Amino acid sequence: MYSQLSNDISPFTVMQLVQRAGEFEAKGKRVVHFEVGEPDFQTAVPIVSAAHAALDAGQTKYTSAQGIIELRQCIADFYRSQDIAIPVERILVTSGASGGLVLLASLLLDVGDELLITDPGYPCNEVFAKLVGGVPIKVPVSAENRFQPTLADIQNAWGENTKGILLASPANPTGTMLHPDEFIAIQNFVAARGGFFILDEIYQNLTRDHVTYTSGLSLCPEIFVLNSFSKFFGMTGWRLGWVVVPEAAVESLTKLAQNLFISPSTPAQYAAVAAFADDTMSIHNQRKKTFEARAKILSQGLVALGFNIPVMPDGAFYLYVDISHTNMDSADFCWRLIEDYQVAVTPGYDFGDSNAGNYVRFAYTTSEESIVLGLDRLGKALADWEVKV
Ligand SMILES: Cc1ncc(COP(=O)(O)O)c(C=O)c1O
Repeated sequence: MYSQLSNDISPFTVMQLVQRAGEFEAKGKRVVHFEVGEPDFQTAVPIVSAAHAALDAGQTKYTSAQGIIELRQCIADFYRSQDIAIPVERILVTSGASGGLVLLASLLLDVGDELLITDPGYPCNEVFAKLVGGVPIKVPVSAENRFQPTLADIQNAWGENTKGILLASPANPTGTMLHPDEFIAIQNFVAARGGFFILDEIYQNLTRDHVTYTSGLSLCPEIFVLNSFSKFFGMTGWRLGWVVVPEAAVESLTKLAQNLFISPSTPAQYAAVAAFADDTMSIHNQRKKTFEARAKILSQGLVALGFNIPVMPDGAFYLYVDISHTNMDSADFCWRLIEDYQVAVTPGYDFGDSNAGNYVRFAYTTSEESIVLGLDRLGKALADWEVKV
């Protein structure tokens, strides 16, 4: 009775872990959460106040499908502050990056068209392709190449029916970015085949100091870019994001946005305008520093416990950690950790198949105090399991 797609989709293992964590918490036990892919901070106060003001002013109707011009202008200014000139017309506000993915898949893929994605990668990507009859092709990426594809990987995976690629930089679950040279080489290859390049930048701005570019748009202005208010701007529940598309795509994408969503959430859009104000940006930048401090404590603590973090991330709030020295499969590792030590971590299987049994993702979306407690519990677990360093 239900669609093939709905039957094909598997639930995330992490949801079972989250459920188990909830059961422990209901019994009054403290769980350390390293599994959550969203900031633990509340949305910054100026954004919440702007939402109240918008609602009081009656901003409760549909907007244009592209989003309110004030917000699109803020986004254009945000790029201008990074020395990237994007005309407002190329920016469409969406219902989260998820809404952007529905729109771009609908715009760019026909039935049978192949889309190259990475493994490991954001698990929902393949579903967006399948939703429109596309065929996701997973390109395995590994620690040797910082979990990003090389030009050779893309060349090898590109087939007769391939129409484009979807990469993330920084990526989930690894936090790594595409090297600028590789990025340009891949884009040149894709463009020469008349293909499209979608770059998911939803972790933009949550990057480390050594990173040499902010947005891929500074290197390849004609790509499709996904972004979101969820992560750096701390607005996961508001369901708001944006896409930047080549000028030629604007009209078709607008038609799709009108039909599929009518418009993004109106109060959320007015709230998001406040996200770009200087005082709000300082709050976000301060939070970014907090994430960096946590990354340091967590990574140093994990290494001291004998874990291998083969690639230190360039951004986001994740560490992709090799647990092979425990001789446990990642699913087993995660399950035993929650069950016996109340520490929740996401197994590699939730991000693909490639070497997934050897990796787990730690999200440092929890306080320093929790991180220290989590490390302490991990230490106990390793001692109990008699894992040799
Ligand atoms: C790489 C990546 N892309 C897209 C999304 C979807 O984000 P949004 O909340 O903007 O829909 C996520 C969410 O975790 C993600 O990690």
